[in-house]
Amino acid sequence: MSKKMSSIVVIGTQWGDEGKGKVIDLLSENARHIARAQGGNNAGHTIVVGAQEFKFHLIPSGILYPHTKCYIGGGTVLDPASLLTELEGLKSHGVPNVKRLYISQYAHIVFPYHQLIDQLAEKQKGGAAVGTTGKGIGPCYADKVNRCGIRLVDLLEPESFRLKLQSAVAQKNRELEKLYQHPPMEWEPIFETYAKYAAELAPYVAPVEELLSQAAKQGENILFEGAQGALLDITFGTYPFVTSSCTLSGGIAAGLGVGPSKIDHTIGVVKVYTTRVGNGPFPTELNGDELAHFPDHSASREVGTTTGRKRRMGWLDTFLLRHTLCLNGVDSLALTKLDILDDLDEIKICTGYKKCKTFPATLEELKQAQPIYETHPGWKKSTRDVKVYDDLPSNARGYIRRIEELCETPVSLISVGPERERTLWLDRFFNE
Ligand code: GDP
Ligand code: IMO
Ligand code: MG
Repeated sequence: MSKKMSSIVVIGTQWGDEGKGKVIDLLSENARHIARAQGGNNAGHTIVVGAQEFKFHLIPSGILYPHTKCYIGGGTVLDPASLLTELEGLKSHGVPNVKRLYISQYAHIVFPYHQLIDQLAEKQKGGAAVGTTGKGIGPCYADKVNRCGIRLVDLLEPESFRLKLQSAVAQKNRELEKLYQHPPMEWEPIFETYAKYAAELAPYVAPVEELLSQAAKQGENILFEGAQGALLDITFGTYPFVTSSCTLSGGIAAGLGVGPSKIDHTIGVVKVYTTRVGNGPFPTELNGDELAHFPDHSASREVGTTTGRKRRMGWLDTFLLRHTLCLNGVDSLALTKLDILDDLDEIKICTGYKKCKTFPATLEELKQAQPIYETHPGWKKSTRDVKVYDDLPSNARGYIRRIEELCETPVSLISVGPERERTLWLDRFFNE
């Protein structure tokens, strides 16, 4: 790679769960700083190191390398209980010095009323439910945009926090009663609990924006970790079956308070088939017969990291990818989960939708979309122990080349198993 590179975005190109956590962990070996810009504990990033498995929800997946500094940006929404549990989990796994975590005071706080309203709203929508994670993410972002949210900095000032919370709970109780016929909540117990959380989180609060700017100025290696996936983006995703933040590479700059000029390269993580958790249209979703030929959900690790739901499965959709690679300005692809296709006789790739020139913007069009498929012969051989690209079965190489061609983007790494060592590097990143 000719360009001098010191900051890289790793972003999901489908509906989330592409394997971003594994890619971030891999690249963290040579990164100094790893930062999350958006989302909350709706995300679930899994990393397998030897016999240990780690699941991250808000803490950047780079924390496992002791030389890293990890950041949670102002664009995130932070559930203190969940974050503190994650921190405890790291300590109990022997991860050294978790004080390497820096949290922006601008992050908005998720409260119990956000979770409750998330769950009640979903119930009320019945068949039209989004299928959210129920973590209160949407209602917390709604308060932020509605200018009545409570930020981490607000939590740290007990007197003003008390007033803000009282006002928020009074408002939420009107909502709970009128919209959901739900009994009111009391603000005092929330205040007590969150005041304790504030004390526990205070040592981690830091000027993330400035620290990252300085790091970028000094040319230190920075990794920006995307959460969710492009089609869950609040603006360009399959609205309203989306999450409530900007999940695109462009959102990284806004969510961390760093300038877009600080980003050198964007890696789009692409699972070599497609999955989706939650509701909403999914043109290449497998039918029952096709699904029977796939490894089951636990073998393919397609059970939701955050909610334990089975993920919906589908063929690779390169029409979707051409759209999302463009939305993200993706420079290279990290292909994941090639090994899951090892036993298939035939593998389909969607190359377009009949009568669609551009990716549909409405649910109605997307529901009716008729994928155009080409069928590729399977390789029927395990790829899990392959160490270099040239040793992949030739049909697997053919499949990868076709993805590159259809996506008009080069592949920079291929993952053939959840573990670090099950990775084929086609390109190296960062200046070493
Ligand atoms: P993320 O949200 O994008 O980080 O992805 P998740 O962690 O939610 O889901 C990906 C799942 O696939 C996890 O269980 C990973 O351990 C696993 N995984 C990642 N890459 C591979 C791979 O190449 N092969 C297999 N078999 N599993 C993988
Ligand atoms: P990672 O980072 C997959 C989905 C939910 C639901 C929709 C809205 O692990 O890829 P929300 O709770 O965010 O309001 O739910 O978004 N969703 C994800 N799906 N991976 C994720 O994160 C997701 N985060 C949210 O299932 O369809
Ligand atoms: Mg996930």
